Amino acid sequence: MSKTIRVCVTGAAGQIDYSLLFRIASGEMFGPEQKVALNLLEITPALDALKGVAMELDDCAFPLLEEIVMTDDVNVAMKDVNWALLVGSKPRGPGMERGDLIKENGPIFTSTGKAINDHAADDVRVVVVGNPCNTNCLIAMHNAPDVPRDRFHAMTRLDENRAKSQLAQKAGVPVTEVKNMVIWGNHSATQVPDYKNATISGKPAADVIGDLAYLQTEFTSTVAKRGAAIIAARGKSSAASAANGLIDHVKSLLTPTPEGEVFSSCVNSDGNPYGIPEGLIFSFPCRSNGDGTYEIVPGFELDQHLTEGVAKTVAELESEREVIKDLLG
Ligand code: NAD
Ligand code: LMR
Repeated sequence: MSKTIRVCVTGAAGQIDYSLLFRIASGEMFGPEQKVALNLLEITPALDALKGVAMELDDCAFPLLEEIVMTDDVNVAMKDVNWALLVGSKPRGPGMERGDLIKENGPIFTSTGKAINDHAADDVRVVVVGNPCNTNCLIAMHNAPDVPRDRFHAMTRLDENRAKSQLAQKAGVPVTEVKNMVIWGNHSATQVPDYKNATISGKPAADVIGDLAYLQTEFTSTVAKRGAAIIAARGKSSAASAANGLIDHVKSLLTPTPEGEVFSSCVNSDGNPYGIPEGLIFSFPCRSNGDGTYEIVPGFELDQHLTEGVAKTVAELESEREVIKDLLG
């Protein structure tokens, strides 16, 4: 058995983490042989609720769960962590866009970034879920200047999974038949679900679906506005599916990506290979060797409709960056 992996999960008494922590502790994220230690961060008023979550973790008697640390101090929470899963932040309510959270949630990621910089393990990797996750990730990355930029991710895996599911249902095939369902850009209503490069049973999804107008309108808007639809239906934002997306995201970084396949992740753009402006946290087609690293996969070609969508999501990310430029250090 390899060395224990220490994972910081923020917002640990919140609804996403209630679906997430038990799956990490049971081995779903890091594998059935891998011991884990959980550093759980909450704000002070939520520490009692967090104790309840920890009691339930204890009551599962998970063989792989070695230690639980509970704290309201972000510096303690980030001590020696190999993974920092940044969920803790306010969710949006009905009628809001995710970007409306930026002023309230953005500042959380300055202290979090600094704490990661100062206290995390040398191999730390960071995944931001709290919204607006791309720009919050940018803030954390800028406040952790000693941590290589390729360690930072924001999550569009939930969007990818949503898109796969929509395509599978439309085509009447199992979801496993849908591959290379790339989400480009921001985890927001401007995201670009790439119907052109997705495949269904090895064939271009657009050929299988045979309805470009559907792909450009109903499919795209269903995926991009799914978060709002769930809030309207449930009265709360997605939680179990978000936790599941995060598990898939981390597993994709720790499993060699099958030849010819990709997964979506928001990572730092250095301008290559798609000409996305440098320094945005942007969702790209990625692959991994399975050691936690990734590369952006080149060669995906977009049609004019998708290219126009990419320009809009770039513009939105640039305007979000402008709003929080004071937090970038
Ligand atoms: P929630 O309100 O149920 O839980 C959030 C928790 O974070 C709360 O317990 C709160 O006390 C805690 N918190 C607040 N500030 C904190 C801080 N500074 N440090 C540590 N903890 C803090 O919310 P939720 O439904 O679990 O959603 C959490 C975030 O995830 C929201 O911003 C939501 O919009 C986002 N989200 C993102 C995706 C995605 O795909 N990227 C999907 C779903 C939700
Ligand atoms: C989602 O996509 O479900 C989350 O980002 C929550 C939200 O506000 O939509």
